[in-house]
Amino acid sequence: MSDLEKRDVHNPLLFECAWEVANKVGGIYTVIKTKVPVTVSEYGDRYCLIGPLSYKTAPMEVEAEEPNDPHLAATLELMREQGVKALYGRWLIEGNPHVLLFDTSSQYSRLDEWKGDLWNLAGIPSPPNDHETNETIVFGYLVAWFLGDYVSRQLHTAVVAHFHEWQAGLAIPLCRKRHIDVTTVFTTHATLLGRYLCAGSVDFYNNLQYFDVDHEAGKRGIYHRYCIERSATHCADVFTTVSHITAYESEHLLKRKPDGVLPNGLNVVKFQAMHEFQNLHSTAKAKINEFVRGHFYGHYDFDLDNTLYGWFLLSDTCPQMFTAGRYEYRNKGVDMFIESLARLNYRLQKSGSTVTVVAFVIMPASTHSYTIEALKGQAVTKQLRDTVTEIQNRIGARLFDHAARFHGDQKAIPTPPELLSEEDQVLLKRRTFALKRNSLPPVTTHNMADDANDPILNQIRRVKLFNASSDRVKIVFHPDFLNSNNPILGLDYEEFVRGCHLGVFPSYYEPWGYTPAECTVMGIPSVTTNLSGFGCFMQDLIERPQDEGCYIVDRRMQSVEDSVTQLTDHMFTFCSKTRRQRINQRNRVERLSPLLDWKNLGIEYSKARQLALRRAYPDAFYGASGFEGVEWEEGEAGEGDYFSGGVERAALGSMPASPRLRGAATPGDIGTLTEEMQFLKTSDYRGYQWPSSQEDEEDMYPF
Ligand code: UDP
Ligand code: G6P
Ligand code: GLC
Repeated sequence: MSDLEKRDVHNPLLFECAWEVANKVGGIYTVIKTKVPVTVSEYGDRYCLIGPLSYKTAPMEVEAEEPNDPHLAATLELMREQGVKALYGRWLIEGNPHVLLFDTSSQYSRLDEWKGDLWNLAGIPSPPNDHETNETIVFGYLVAWFLGDYVSRQLHTAVVAHFHEWQAGLAIPLCRKRHIDVTTVFTTHATLLGRYLCAGSVDFYNNLQYFDVDHEAGKRGIYHRYCIERSATHCADVFTTVSHITAYESEHLLKRKPDGVLPNGLNVVKFQAMHEFQNLHSTAKAKINEFVRGHFYGHYDFDLDNTLYGWFLLSDTCPQMFTAGRYEYRNKGVDMFIESLARLNYRLQKSGSTVTVVAFVIMPASTHSYTIEALKGQAVTKQLRDTVTEIQNRIGARLFDHAARFHGDQKAIPTPPELLSEEDQVLLKRRTFALKRNSLPPVTTHNMADDANDPILNQIRRVKLFNASSDRVKIVFHPDFLNSNNPILGLDYEEFVRGCHLGVFPSYYEPWGYTPAECTVMGIPSVTTNLSGFGCFMQDLIERPQDEGCYIVDRRMQSVEDSVTQLTDHMFTFCSKTRRQRINQRNRVERLSPLLDWKNLGIEYSKARQLALRRAYPDAFYGASGFEGVEWEEGEAGEGDYFSGGVERAALGSMPASPRLRGAATPGDIGTLTEEMQFLKTSDYRGYQWPSSQEDEEDMYPF
């Protein structure tokens, strides 16, 4: 037996590498960050994350520390001597893991040398001006350098290196070519081609088998990126993805059948009592109402019997809906959302409904600043509020003075004119006059860099949702992620979600889709589709997801027209719910959260690592158990370690009217990571059917 095979495989070290470690871009950040507690509970100090060093975010996210591991310290010292800038320390999040961040800019001097090496080693070309690819190359070479040097010093413990997505995956082929003694797992969270093809007007899912991948990648100028992604996929010991739908896509576009699916979890916080998250909804909603009052100031032409902002203040007549995410107009289904809002508006008007819906679109785009109108709206309502508070104080003082002076006298109770002075009346009038406005409340809060060509604005213009007073659906496009420090809509994303009534995410391309999953664990109903990994996951587990507040629009088996109608129906039905029914539905949806808890889903990651170790060090396992697979099965049987899911399910089952779970007993049961996966036919990916007839593009996208 060689030295390499003597590494301890039972207490391995784990390096997990992603471009979004301590660097938020989208959902991969959420995967990494929320998974840390379960990974730390399994690996403790043997776990270290690796990511890029961003000087903008790292100082807030990471506390520098000297490594305890002498081998790691020696490797870092060697790299630093050669000019590599790196930050090692603790990521300041729950679980407090070790983190190692490499400053790619410190090694751009080697970029050309590394590009040449990449070409010679793997035949991967790299054009000169693709910044993202340059970053990927430098980062990949730094990580491979680090791992190679580290395992040449540390010879006693096996090392699992887990990489996420192509931007962090280049180290995988390098490890393979250089025979670095680590075992690798590659998890893809999408495919490059999938994202690009879907964003265009291609009938993606019906043609998956037929795409000429090299040609399609070349046509879109991403051939070199595709090569990196594909080499990471093929060189990894274990290849996984986040959902069955993306497994199917990966098989055809990356030409490797994944070894299994690792569904994304969340760090679920269970409140002791139901009313606690309901209260959070209430307080967050009050903040959104505050924004809404400012944004829609001056629109009195509704029921005049109501108070100033009556239709907004009466919150049970004003459900708030939203969509949010990275700006991928078609992939995230914003096209379908806006079209359905227009139809909802029409249906509410026709039915004579008094309900007003405020629909938010939260999606970062290129902007210059907030619009004057948006800032003014908040300013005039704030002035009004301040004035009312001042007047309130003066009235209080007068009331007190009066009562004290005329005690025991009838005059002790002042009349209204005595309370509200002339000056106060004038002041109040001035403030209310400032609320007059000749224009409609704006549909966007920001000055867009390219207003005329923005797809969301153009779609809003097309369907004429201009916030007219006759509109029952109002729209607010906030082209930036949310932040509690924003001068308008000053809430963090989580708080915003809690304050809303329904999240709408009708995605066309969505390997997982954290946004509806996050709604679920916060007890907010949501709409998603059966083209999103999350939607399929819930459909697999729950018999009637819509009864639980988890609506799933069919975007597979019906035309776009029918999907839009279905989405409109869901929203219309939601609008007719009473407050009591909404409260009930929030309770029901929140009860699904154990299904999404890393405490249950983390085991799929453990299985992937186990498989990687077995593949790299088969002798160590054959020796222990006689044949491959035994420990794996033991792991599954002894679910107790990871599967509090079994317990959670019992709890769910014991409650009246609990969601009826399908045959799959626990989330782990639908995890598929087994050696046998390799022998499955494509059709065995959890029973998904694909429409057989090809619809033409016109019919697919009428709007
Ligand atoms: N998100 C956020 N602020 C926002 C909107 C979204 O932080 O204003 C986060 C959201 O919480 C989620 C992530 O962005 O975790 C988006 O992940 P998802 O998987 O839905 O999509 P991706 O961007 O990865 O395609
Ligand atoms: C929570 C609160 C209730 C509040 C309700 C409003 O359930 O605990 O006090 O009445 O939210 O619900 P709504 O769906 O109208 O925002
Ligand atoms: C990707 C996908 C998204 C998924 C996320 C985390 O960015 O677009 O659907 O939720 O990764 O896996």
